[in-house]
Amino acid sequence: MKRIVIFASGSGSNAENLIKFFHNREHISVIQVLSNNPHAKVLDRCKKLNVSVLCFNRAAFNETHDILNLLKSLQPDLIVLAGFLWKFPENILNAFENKVINIHPALLPKYGGKGMYGIHIHEAVLKNKESETGITIHYVNEHYDEGKIIFQAKCNINLKDTVGNIASKIHELEMKYFPEVVEKLLFP
Ligand code: GRF
Repeated sequence: MKRIVIFASGSGSNAENLIKFFHNREHISVIQVLSNNPHAKVLDRCKKLNVSVLCFNRAAFNETHDILNLLKSLQPDLIVLAGFLWKFPENILNAFENKVINIHPALLPKYGGKGMYGIHIHEAVLKNKESETGITIHYVNEHYDEGKIIFQAKCNINLKDTVGNIASKIHELEMKYFPEVVEKLLFP
């Protein structure tokens, strides 16, 4: 059985989608969700879905080895960042080399880096009159949004599109492709 641990800071629609996709699959399971945000909607989603969810603070993540040790005990085959906003510490990346992936709602290397998250990305894409945008699934390294790209999917931007429309198109791509890409990574 391949084990997935998800990190999420916000709504958690991607976490929920992954949990549902792998629910009742024999070979892959989301065994734990971890969040830095005690008010995040992802916590309610996990409770409803009966998936173990834990909150941690900055100290546990960056100043001690608490989260590193927890992950070592959980033995994940893949760590999935799904809307996780804190920079991932190097000690965890070193312990789980090539096992930490992220989903980003733009076509990296464009529109990545610090401050490029959520609607800020779609606003910038619109302002720059891009004709397309999309999603990027990539390995995580010590720099924001710079790890090796695993997968991208695109959508067109029309003249009439708003930030809201673009967010919906991105959401659709995420729901469709993220679970499939995760599955292919675990069972190439
Ligand atoms: C997604 O758009 C993802 O690409 C980005 O953060 C958002 C998370 O949304 N990294 P949700 O919390 O999964 O609903």
